[in-house]
Amino acid sequence: MSSNKVVLITGASSGIGLVTARYLAQQGYRVFGTSRRPTQAEANGFTLLPLDVRSAESIQACLQTIIAQTGRLDVLINNAGFIGPGAASEELSVTQVKALFETNFFGVIQMINAVLPLMRQQGGGQIINLSSAAGRLTTPPFFGVYAASKHALEGYTEGLRYEVQPFNIRVSLVEPGYFKTSIAQTIETPDRALEVYQARREQAATLDRLSIQAGRDPIDVAQTIAQIMRGRLPRLRYVVGLDAQVMITAKRLLPFAFVEKYITWLFLHDAERRPVTSLSGLRHLFLNSRVADAAWRQAWLALALGAGVTLIFKLWRKK
Ligand SMILES: NC(=O)c1ccc[n+]([C@@H]2O[C@H](COP(=O)([O-])OP(=O)(O)OC[C@H]3O[C@@H](n4cnc5c(N)ncnc54)[C@H](OP(=O)(O)O)[C@@H]3O)[C@@H](O)[C@H]2O)c1
Repeated sequence: MSSNKVVLITGASSGIGLVTARYLAQQGYRVFGTSRRPTQAEANGFTLLPLDVRSAESIQACLQTIIAQTGRLDVLINNAGFIGPGAASEELSVTQVKALFETNFFGVIQMINAVLPLMRQQGGGQIINLSSAAGRLTTPPFFGVYAASKHALEGYTEGLRYEVQPFNIRVSLVEPGYFKTSIAQTIETPDRALEVYQARREQAATLDRLSIQAGRDPIDVAQTIAQIMRGRLPRLRYVVGLDAQVMITAKRLLPFAFVEKYITWLFLHDAERRPVTSLSGLRHLFLNSRVADAAWRQAWLALALGAGVTLIFKLWRKK
């Protein structure tokens, strides 16, 4: 159970933000969530305030409401974000790219700049930024701009830690894999679609949508965030979900050519000849998190059983 820390989480009308706001409220935190169009204020044990992270005025109004009610802000969770274009780079206008960065990257910077004076004044605070596995590697293909916005967030957040550490302000990143939320609805079509990319672009978008639908429960992310908030010395990065763990570890340990081949096979294989409409075969194992988690558990169980049987056999032979 927590102290009465005051928490602000952006984008709490659905998905990870909603589940996290509700969970933290249950843990005893005083939680403020936000939405561009708040409707169900106080309905989930937390206060829902209007906020558009792209607007400095909106940010100031939101913070003033919190300060008027509580006099402080202990934790800022920058969660608001969307996927944006599923498109080849050549199909995108700069306007479409900038629109994504306005929320996913500049929105976070505006939020942080607005809360830092307050956190310094009160002698400390905590900032948690929602990145993604796509903040560490660009997957799926055709979502390079989303990945770029999260890579930018990662670089920025790493730098921020050095700057604010003397003021007792702790900064962390959360890197989820696929989680079941409504974010797939924010996938956009390109401004100027080109037929040459169509089959592979559509297949990557279909598989991304299906993987989100088959994603894990966002409660895992909420619990990780709560754990970061309880920690005395929070790390920079927290990966959530087996898929994210596997991909990030693979990119760290294996030659990139191998990872690239795997991602190409997973998302783009046969797109021109036999476009996918569902998760099937090996894709089911890699992109359906329930199947992947069950397979992982079974693999560990088999390993433990194998080790146990070997040990018993060795002891028996020694007799
Ligand atoms: N779901 C996943 O598999 C996954 C994986 C990795 C990372 N993530 C990251 O997790 C975060 C939450 O995603 P989610 O899956 O929970 O998505 P979601 O269900 O679509 O929720 C996104 C939230 O962001 C808010 N939002 C969007 N644009 C905003 C803006 N300009 N200003 C203020 N709020 C805005 C939305 O609120 P309103 O529309 O009500 O304003 C909504 O509450 C995102 O940063 C996403 O990149 C998600």
